[in-house]
Amino acid sequence: MTQKYDAIVLGAGAAGLFCAATAGQRGKRVLVLDHADKPGKKILISGGGRCNFTNLGIAPERYLSSNRHFAKSALRRYTARDFLDLVEAHGIAWHEKTLGQLFCDGSARQILDMLLAECARGDVTVHCGDAIAEVAGEPGAFRVGYGAQSAQAPALVIATGGPSIPKMGATGFAYDLARQFGLKVVQPRPALVPLTLPAEEALFRELSGVATDIVARIDGTFGKAEFREAALFTHRGLSGPAILQASSYWQRGDRLAADLVPDRRSGWLREAKRERPRVGLRKVLNEALPGRLADALAERLALSGDLGNLSDKALTAAEERLARWPFVPDGSEGFAKAEVTAGGIDTAALSSKTMEANKVPGLYVIGEAADVTGWLGGYNFQWAWASGHAAGSAI
Ligand code: FDA
Repeated sequence: MTQKYDAIVLGAGAAGLFCAATAGQRGKRVLVLDHADKPGKKILISGGGRCNFTNLGIAPERYLSSNRHFAKSALRRYTARDFLDLVEAHGIAWHEKTLGQLFCDGSARQILDMLLAECARGDVTVHCGDAIAEVAGEPGAFRVGYGAQSAQAPALVIATGGPSIPKMGATGFAYDLARQFGLKVVQPRPALVPLTLPAEEALFRELSGVATDIVARIDGTFGKAEFREAALFTHRGLSGPAILQASSYWQRGDRLAADLVPDRRSGWLREAKRERPRVGLRKVLNEALPGRLADALAERLALSGDLGNLSDKALTAAEERLARWPFVPDGSEGFAKAEVTAGGIDTAALSSKTMEANKVPGLYVIGEAADVTGWLGGYNFQWAWASGHAAGSAI
């Protein structure tokens, strides 16, 4: 027998659960379906197990999309403060880490429990563990087959996320559905992902495990940005928050410039030469950077002898190189390691107020499935809450 609902939400992740709770509490009969055995698996592993659930610095410019203004309306109408009010109403203790990032004091499980409690308050039915066999119907009358059951509703919400971390059940299902209903998909790509360096950069790959604060600058295929955060050398290339952030703007062929000594003023090497002419470059670099990195850079800069014997011109050139060290990654670690997927269902065909497809009444797209990708640090969950709230208020 086919059960009737007001809305069927595909995907019991952050966006789907929040959308369902919002609609359910408005009196709508909502069914949430997920093929995984349990809801919210990505929430549970997020933020190192503490869920970085939002950020105090939420701003539309901190999101990537081929439709630059799309996220504005939803982000303005459901803010970080709104979500924080909910977190506090549930008695969940939280703290600010760095750069406005808000985490649970306890565990990410508290955020998932909160979402499930909000769903329960709206009498939402959450059904996990059955594959979605079929999505059919027409605008305003959708039918979904799952396991041995089927359901129908005038509203269908695509909230199945993107393909990043497939081993957690992530799929490109949202894109198949989008195409089925005539929506375009902006080429999905791994984002917030470690980058790999080519063999000729073996010197850096040998630094695996070394971390240092940098300013990563990118003027890439997907935009221009700079991030002052930690970078981490890995056996395959580069990682750490500064690199993950820059990776979202990167495509093969783009170059990253890293200021490896962001706290040193222009002229610092010439100053060191005047103050300590008997000291070598390697030693001065060792005072500014982790030892193994300093040694590798000194080798690359190939300026041997005491500073006193090096020309000001050579030292200025070395300073400039250190402040804009070029890295040309040859790839990324792909969807297997990407925290999110950039690209996705083209937002040009969606209402920015309600997330409803303009030409398919009753079809909504929310969360990571849509072509909206936030910075690292709680931005992606805030998009899940805001887009879920927009759709949940409109259904
Ligand atoms: P999400 O991926 O959460 O949910 C989609 C749901 O759809 C899943 O439950 C999945 O099982 C289901 N599904 C997929 N295919 C299906 C199919 N074919 N049939 C049925 N169901 C299907 N962000 C942030 O802001 N702060 C943070 O701290 C972190 N930390 C973090 C850590 C790690 C390791 C990862 C991988 C990601 C993060 N993120 C993050 C990103 C964040 O998790 C992500 O942006 C949101 O979970 C996106 O929410 P959605 O609901 O859109 O998708």
